[in-house]
Amino acid sequence: MNFIDLCISSSTQKLKFIQFVLPLKRMDKQRYILVTGGAGYIGSHTVVELTRAGYTPVIADDFRNANRIVVDGLEKLIESTPIIHEVDVCDANHMRDLFEKYAFTGIIHFAAYKAVGESVMDPLKYYHNNIQGLVNVIELALEFSVHNFVFSSSCTVYGEPEGLKVVNEDSPKSKPNSPYGHTKAIGEQILMDVFKSDPEMKIMNLRYFNPVGAHPTGLIGEFPIGKPNNLLPFVTQTGIGKQAELTVFGNDYPTVDGTCVRDYIHVVDLAKAHVKAIHFLSEQADGLIEAVNIGTGNGTSILEVINLFEKIANQSLNWKFGPRRPGDVIEIYADASKANRLLNWQAEYSISDAIEHAWNWEKMIKNYE
Ligand code: UD1
Repeated sequence: MNFIDLCISSSTQKLKFIQFVLPLKRMDKQRYILVTGGAGYIGSHTVVELTRAGYTPVIADDFRNANRIVVDGLEKLIESTPIIHEVDVCDANHMRDLFEKYAFTGIIHFAAYKAVGESVMDPLKYYHNNIQGLVNVIELALEFSVHNFVFSSSCTVYGEPEGLKVVNEDSPKSKPNSPYGHTKAIGEQILMDVFKSDPEMKIMNLRYFNPVGAHPTGLIGEFPIGKPNNLLPFVTQTGIGKQAELTVFGNDYPTVDGTCVRDYIHVVDLAKAHVKAIHFLSEQADGLIEAVNIGTGNGTSILEVINLFEKIANQSLNWKFGPRRPGDVIEIYADASKANRLLNWQAEYSISDAIEHAWNWEKMIKNYE
């Protein structure tokens, strides 16, 4: 708050409220990074890596899609109380308070919805939150001259890659397959237009492939609210008994075993890519906008994921084949050479590590609803 309301009593004993405008005490000694959605799955892992790299992350999250158990884990991992502001990114006034309080050196914008199926059922929920949130944050970034901006984008912007399985940043894009996907493509377009109007901005769109896994310590991980949409949380929840059975969507795709192939990227590797992105942007003298794939470069089919899980958890999984899921891309994985070249980043964990860590985390949160 910029104001302190002082209540004084006049000689007539009538109460008067006087607002004193105090000079803003901006917190600017540290390298503050605004992390919207920082209590969420990828956000929380990024907060850990930012802290380890010497930054001070400031989380803006209203916990609509995050669980407070993550805050306990974060606290242990960063060995201090994380700075968290419970704020909706669509609430511009509240967001402004943060920009007034902290001299941010960079922004990582995660806060957004991400369930493909839900976005088809309720597109306006996605357009409202994902687009309004981005517009608010980027407007404030411009107003407060915070030039380093990392946007949480997705391989969904490639749509169904025609004839290609491995995509690089210049691969032709077809239309995304869902309103969720459109919000990411539109988000990138908004940032491109902003960059053209303000060439001082330094923007990086990180296009994630399929984030999976949990922190190797088992202290933080994904906490899906309700029934999981994504494959690996569904696998581990079936393994632990929270879900009765996994349905594999489709068995007649033209792939190695008839099931869809994805590039599963460990969430800690992904988190580290954000730190490298912020670091890279802050070192650039001139404005720029870049899109960068963040994936392993390897494809894994759904049946391969199930087999690996059964081996790692040493138990069989209850699963069956079901019909194809509308909107699913058949096979896609990253050419991540640009991330390597530009950011000196590459994935270190394997899909097996990710499954092992996700399974440890699932066991750890077994008794939480
Ligand atoms: C989608 C998006 C991706 C986004 C991610 C975030 C597209 C093309 N991809 O990934 O950009 O980052 O959501 O949530 O929009 N599956 C099953 N049974 C299940 C769940 C999933 O068989 O119960 C299959 C799916 O059909 C798919 C694969 O597992 O073939 C991976 O699915 P999922 O984890 O939902 O991620 P994507 O749809 O690939």
